[in-house]
Amino acid sequence: MKEGIKMLEFKKIISEKIEKALDLEGNKIIEYIEIPPNREMGDYAFPVFNLAKTLKKSPQVIANELKEKIVLDEYIEKVEVLSGYLNFYINKLELTKTVLEEIEEKKENYGSSSIGKGKTILVEYSSPNIAKPFHIGHLRTTVIGAALYNIYKFLGYSTIGLNHLGDYGTQFGKMIEGYKRWGTEYDFNKDPIEELMKIYVRINELCEKDEEVLNLCRENFKKLEDGDSYCTEIWNEFKNLSLKEFNKIYDILGVKFDYMNGEAFYSDKMDEVSEILKKNDVLVESNGATIVDLEDKNLGVCIVTKSNGSTTYATRDLAAILYRARTYKFDKCLYVVASEQNLHFRQIFEIAKSLEINDKQLKGLIHVSYGMVRLTSGKMSTREGTVIKVNDLLNESIERVLKIIEEKNPEMENKAEEAKRIGVGAVIYNNLCTTIIKDQVFDWEIVLNFNGETGPYIQYVYVRTKSILEKVDEIPRLKDVDFNLLQDKDSLRVISNLYNFKNVLYSVVEKNEPSILAKYLIDLSQSFSNFYNENRIINEDKEVQNARVYLTASVGIVLKKGTELLGIQMPNKM
Ligand code: ARG
Repeated sequence: MKEGIKMLEFKKIISEKIEKALDLEGNKIIEYIEIPPNREMGDYAFPVFNLAKTLKKSPQVIANELKEKIVLDEYIEKVEVLSGYLNFYINKLELTKTVLEEIEEKKENYGSSSIGKGKTILVEYSSPNIAKPFHIGHLRTTVIGAALYNIYKFLGYSTIGLNHLGDYGTQFGKMIEGYKRWGTEYDFNKDPIEELMKIYVRINELCEKDEEVLNLCRENFKKLEDGDSYCTEIWNEFKNLSLKEFNKIYDILGVKFDYMNGEAFYSDKMDEVSEILKKNDVLVESNGATIVDLEDKNLGVCIVTKSNGSTTYATRDLAAILYRARTYKFDKCLYVVASEQNLHFRQIFEIAKSLEINDKQLKGLIHVSYGMVRLTSGKMSTREGTVIKVNDLLNESIERVLKIIEEKNPEMENKAEEAKRIGVGAVIYNNLCTTIIKDQVFDWEIVLNFNGETGPYIQYVYVRTKSILEKVDEIPRLKDVDFNLLQDKDSLRVISNLYNFKNVLYSVVEKNEPSILAKYLIDLSQSFSNFYNENRIINEDKEVQNARVYLTASVGIVLKKGTELLGIQMPNKM
């Protein structure tokens, strides 16, 4: 593949100028360069007060001296001093040229990069529990994880998606006990998970009253771990029934995994964990159980094996760390899991230090912690069985959209398909638009608002770009575009947004925060709407039309790619 032209990096150009003026070399100036909140204050700004201490001068003096020394050129037009900042104005024609040339060359790969080359990223996401409902918390990890997966991949990382299915643990001892007792009373053909849940709720109630039954449940899990054929058979049945349900959701969402190794996969890999921990003197006996004491780190204790020899959720995670480190030699292993499990991850990452894996991998263990999803009815608990089903939620969204289409545009082709893209896209977007650590409230009025900061709004703007392009015979080539005709405020805002696409993707992987991309796509859509309102695109003046159509097509490419990276599909009509 040919190298192609390089898109100008204005931040880098500016930081080099500052470094030269300050006579600094290889400095980290670039990290300090900001984008001013208001474009009248320049395109980039350098806060000078950081230097005041080192240079022992007032920011004002430094800024003025620096300004004199900055050499302007064809890329940087103007520098100004404003309250402790040095503001840089870039040459907008150069900006336009560099952005549009890059888009012409890369097309739908615009924004991709090779910064990830040679690096392996594991993304663990979704990980629902067998025989339990897939709830809206699981929806959130699925959607966040899939977006991160796509974005890392687009930036050249070798990316591996893992689903750490919750298919093991004492709860299966309970499920087996319940199934044994009452299995024949339930019909598993209709809604298997719901029926299994009824058994689970029922056996839990019994366990609370009767310690004996609880012990039987614990025994069952031990038997399962020891390979007992009856228990294994029932457990397999639970797993198949559940996966069938989960796959329906993954199909609707269009989400895939490279590996579906659940917790059970690690059942034969846990002895080694105990051995290594013992060897390294961190495992202690306590009432027949083995534990790692993390009190000195303020992290409580972590049980590695229970008094009856059974392993725990934490042990399986430790075995998974060891296995993944050896098998994939990862640079990062991201766990997209709810913030309720913060303590769990701090514990296992701390214990991992004693597992003899290398430093790079220890540092690469990252809990991508996300906030709870709240419905108006408050927090959900599986145990009480009060849970919104994700399948129902997605279908309801599709139906609501279909109803809106029936009202507003009954003639539309492929209504069902389009409603699915919009309805599912709306739910996905809603899961990604807030900073992921924040709790998220689910409200249909917000999710499906076509004018709000929503998935449907972005889709709507995209469809508008498409219908504009349908009005012209063909999209002009870049050589027929006069950049001078795109120098008005609204065109430039679109162009500068397009320019930022790659940096937005870099920020997403730096912070593991897909909401940055979600918000960006709203900005881009809004800037396009303004551009569209202010400028007549289909125009008597062919030169003007060519330039505006070209910009419209470019926006379409980035909106489509950006939403695709979030896991959202674009409708053809709206
Ligand atoms: N199955 C767990 C749950 O639904 C999440 C698993 C998270 N991943 C992990 N490696 N512990 O809460």
